[in-house]
Amino acid sequence: MAETLTITDNRTGKQYELAITDGTIRANDLKKIKVGDQDGGLATYDPAFMNTAACRSQITYIDGDKGILLYRGYPIEQLAEQSTYLETAYLVLFGELPTAEQLRKWTHQITMHTMVHENIKKFMEGFQYDAHPMGVFISTVGALSTFYTDGKQIFDETSRQRQIHRLIAKVPTIAAYAYRHSIGRPYVYPDNDLSFTGNFLNMLFKMTELKYQPNTALERALDVLFILHADHEQNCSTSAMRSIGSSQVDPYSALAGAAAALYGPLHGGANEAVLRMLKEIGSVDHIPAFIKRVKGGDGRLMGFGHRVYKSYDPRAKIIKRTADEVFEVTGKNPLLEIALELERIALEDEYFITRKLYPNVDFYSGLIYQAMGFDVAMFPVLFAIARTVGWVAQWEEMLLDEDQKIARPKQIYTGAATRDYVAMDLRTPRQDAPS
Ligand code: ACO
Repeated sequence: MAETLTITDNRTGKQYELAITDGTIRANDLKKIKVGDQDGGLATYDPAFMNTAACRSQITYIDGDKGILLYRGYPIEQLAEQSTYLETAYLVLFGELPTAEQLRKWTHQITMHTMVHENIKKFMEGFQYDAHPMGVFISTVGALSTFYTDGKQIFDETSRQRQIHRLIAKVPTIAAYAYRHSIGRPYVYPDNDLSFTGNFLNMLFKMTELKYQPNTALERALDVLFILHADHEQNCSTSAMRSIGSSQVDPYSALAGAAAALYGPLHGGANEAVLRMLKEIGSVDHIPAFIKRVKGGDGRLMGFGHRVYKSYDPRAKIIKRTADEVFEVTGKNPLLEIALELERIALEDEYFITRKLYPNVDFYSGLIYQAMGFDVAMFPVLFAIARTVGWVAQWEEMLLDEDQKIARPKQIYTGAATRDYVAMDLRTPRQDAPS
């Protein structure tokens, strides 16, 4: 028997049967329940989408209470241990792990698209010397739509795949150019002999040597960090990607919007904020006073808490292990001691326990990135490179989903009722109006 929910309207005594599918009711079914004479029916009010499923998706599964994260059914722990970023990217996009031949072709396709048009390089040269690399990244990804005008053919399968290859392949090149620009060093062209992350390190850090040889431990650590950040279902930036993409704009424009959403300190900017916070705390002795401040409502413990995870973020566990491997090569980040003690104290504190606040993926990622030689300003850019595959996979799934239309939430209007235009000399200023 189909599951239903019976709602009794106390005002009229009428009963309504709503079908329950996949643990949800259709918001549109509520329209049957009339609120007034002339209305479109009952709606839900859900600021920040706290309890609204906006799509069906087969890509990523999260159980926030149990701390489970699966890409296409595969546990993140197994992928971090055994997969590579490019193989995981294939899995996220196409739904299955590739065979050896499929992976070879896929790697070849991505590798063949790593270069960017020389005019993109020139375009990037126009940014101020101290421009934030994330601002440069967002603008440049958006500008790709002017170079690849076939990107508009979003319902042509071949064209769509071409744009996906271009995006995954070119974001590291753009990110590296943005970084080199910010430190005033010449751009380094991609080296197609190297792996995805090895080449990225080459474009970032190559100096005068003829051939850059990435440190294999750091190359692997970066690959693992990219796997961990590849997708995370309907988060702020992915919702932005889907929402912008639902207008049927090209994927470069949509991805620039998603990257902009990622830039904020509550999302991809969190690891940068963590490092600033650790620096501000300065020493282990200052931690109790800092925690007291946070509990008093003055600021947040950055890198803690998550909308979905109400237990330890599974990615944070893997990252802690990766941190040890990186620090063996680079030496310990001096801020690590503060981070470990901060985590220990917070996890024993009533305030954090009752609110189920645990370290998220970004609590330790910044410490690793910094130890690897990345500037703090590059952190959100690194996140954007890894998340590009999630964004394009979710974008494509949205485009092919017959349930989807242009995204357009409702509102509850709380403004003035209809009133007549007032002539200038009859207006009285409102007390709180800007002068
Ligand atoms: N430090 C202190 N208190 C916190 C924190 C924190 N980091 N996070 C949440 N709280 C408190 C809130 O003050 C609130 O307390 P109250 O009930 O007494 O008012 C309660 O916990 C619930 O918080 P909300 O803001 O309602 O939780 P929400 O799900 O909206 O926020 C978020 C999730 C944005 C991640 C939040 O935990 C936060 O700001 N964390 C710090 C920023 C951060 O690390 N972001 C990275 C997220 S992971 C990522 O994007 C990859």
